[in-house]
Amino acid sequence: MTAVIMNGKEVAMNIRKVLAEEIAATGVSPLLAIVQVGDNPASQIYVRNKHKAAAEIGMKCRICYVPETDDEENLRNLLLDLNDNDDVNGIIVQLPLPQNFDELKILSWIKYIKDVDGFSPTNAGLLQMNSPEAVVAATPQGVLALLKHYLSDLRGKHAVIIGRSNIVGRPLADLLLNQDCTVTVTHSKTVNLPDICRQADILIAACGCPKMVKADWVKKGACVVDVGINRVDGHLVGDVDFDEVKEVASYISPVPGGVGPMTVAMLLKNTWNAYKKQHPLV
Ligand code: GUN
Repeated sequence: MTAVIMNGKEVAMNIRKVLAEEIAATGVSPLLAIVQVGDNPASQIYVRNKHKAAAEIGMKCRICYVPETDDEENLRNLLLDLNDNDDVNGIIVQLPLPQNFDELKILSWIKYIKDVDGFSPTNAGLLQMNSPEAVVAATPQGVLALLKHYLSDLRGKHAVIIGRSNIVGRPLADLLLNQDCTVTVTHSKTVNLPDICRQADILIAACGCPKMVKADWVKKGACVVDVGINRVDGHLVGDVDFDEVKEVASYISPVPGGVGPMTVAMLLKNTWNAYKKQHPLV
């Protein structure tokens, strides 16, 4: 058996096309503000991609660079200005932040109706409580959209998530629980990780370890979603050993071209939804 490839690039392009049509039809141009602290090279690429993707659907994007040497007070003032600026519809702070910045504190400064990453404590709590008002973090939302595109029913499926980050693992666990999956969250201290992974109907790798998930970790016919983006010898590879695992799984997402494009599409969708909430008459 060779798995069906979950084509995130194609699914994401369709989502972006619908967003572009909706925005064009209303004649407005929503504004996303991206705050980048320091000059992490990977972050610079992600921020550039988000800017380009926004422009392609008729969305404005303002990138605010904050030097790593700045203190938190300057960053706070910038975020408060963006919160108060009615022209700005969505705000994200690109992660990871340099070590001298307190991530949780900084994310809590973003007004929750503009928090299009869904990382604020308010949105994380609303998601946990299965509220329809929650803004859901882009990567978990992208994973769910990809799963729904390829699988007919998620109810009762055993989803095993490798990784417990605030950006992916934890919100994804909430999201899949809200879809009536049975969810197991594993992490670096989990004992017998391959045994637990072999029980998964849906296996999601979000641990940041290149090619860690091997064919003998995967139940025959399982669906495997790879959230990892690792640079090895100048190439991008996921957390799943794609060549091995595709012979066992029934569905598998590639890297690149799987979850990555879905994340960008969901950020744009969250920003457009934020605009509509802020302008109910549009
Ligand atoms: N770093 C890695 N993924 C993300 C994301 O989805 N949003 C932000 N702001 N930073 C990230």
